[in-house]
Amino acid sequence: MSEANLGDKAVPNGLPAPPFFLPYPDRPELITENLMKLVELTPDPRHKFLVKTLITHLHQFVNETSLTTDEWMVALQFLTRVGQTCTPLRQEFILLSDVLGVSALVDAVNNPPVSGGTESSVLGPFFTEDAPDVENGDSIASEGKGEYMFVEGRVLSTDGTPVPNALIETWETDALGYYDTQYKGREKPDCRGRLRTDSDGRYGYRAVVPVAYPIPGDGPVGELLIKIGRHNMRPNHLHLMIEAPGFNKLTTALYPEGDEWLSSDAVFGVKKSLVVTFKDVHDAAEARKRGFPKGDSFKLLQFDIIMVPEDESKAAREQFAREQATRLQQKSGEK
Ligand code: BEZ
Ligand code: FE
Repeated sequence: MSEANLGDKAVPNGLPAPPFFLPYPDRPELITENLMKLVELTPDPRHKFLVKTLITHLHQFVNETSLTTDEWMVALQFLTRVGQTCTPLRQEFILLSDVLGVSALVDAVNNPPVSGGTESSVLGPFFTEDAPDVENGDSIASEGKGEYMFVEGRVLSTDGTPVPNALIETWETDALGYYDTQYKGREKPDCRGRLRTDSDGRYGYRAVVPVAYPIPGDGPVGELLIKIGRHNMRPNHLHLMIEAPGFNKLTTALYPEGDEWLSSDAVFGVKKSLVVTFKDVHDAAEARKRGFPKGDSFKLLQFDIIMVPEDESKAAREQFAREQATRLQQKSGEK
């Protein structure tokens, strides 16, 4: 709330009264109609469209549910607490968007599948900018963080050609189900790294087997999930973000098969094509060759990442938007 000094005149935003007549909103539908007329004043066409559509659905929600004053207050207090829970290291609004499926839906609309291309998955709140650069073959996890895993494959274009020098950023939980940022007094990054593909598009690194974990449950979003009878688990996964000039940036994750939370992921991130199978390697010599300092076994995760050229992904996005518009038109025609 802005504060005024006694005697100062209140400052309006400077915009004039609308140049058209608005009837007094004596009936509920006039509130919506007046607001829609006012939205016409929005200069930017995309903003106008977004605000119009939002108001349509929001007002329809109130009408359809006969929302009580108390219920609306509860909703506003909830959103207030979501905002108050946010800190520079914790983003409760993103978490809310995640559990309501909005993050996954926005991702799906913006990154529709392209034949052969690796599909995207939700980014989540645990990506950081400070992951260390590692060489192919290095470890992204410090010793003792979990069961050994070796991840390897190639980064290829949809036509099968290798993508050299692609930047791969990768992050994961340790064996306790925590990202490094969740530890108090974190001094340096762990279980995360940045590496580049070689001239043949190959990449490979040592990591630990990620485990299923609960998304933060100690805030208003956690309370919401309990209220509506939903668990807050994500199946175990390895995050990957890949960038290469000329290609659509890919944010994705790989989900080892067999996890009990795969089909009910709290944030709707799992796609069938991203479910992967480990190989169990029991071979001390091979473990040493790959740089694991101890033991005689590790899990091997082999996965080729298929990047989509920018023009192909743009065409897929446009095609998807056209199909979506047709679907929505058909649906409203059926009503
Ligand atoms: C994650 O995978 O890191 C994540 C995604 C959405 C919400 C919480 C965590
Ligand atoms: Fe995650």
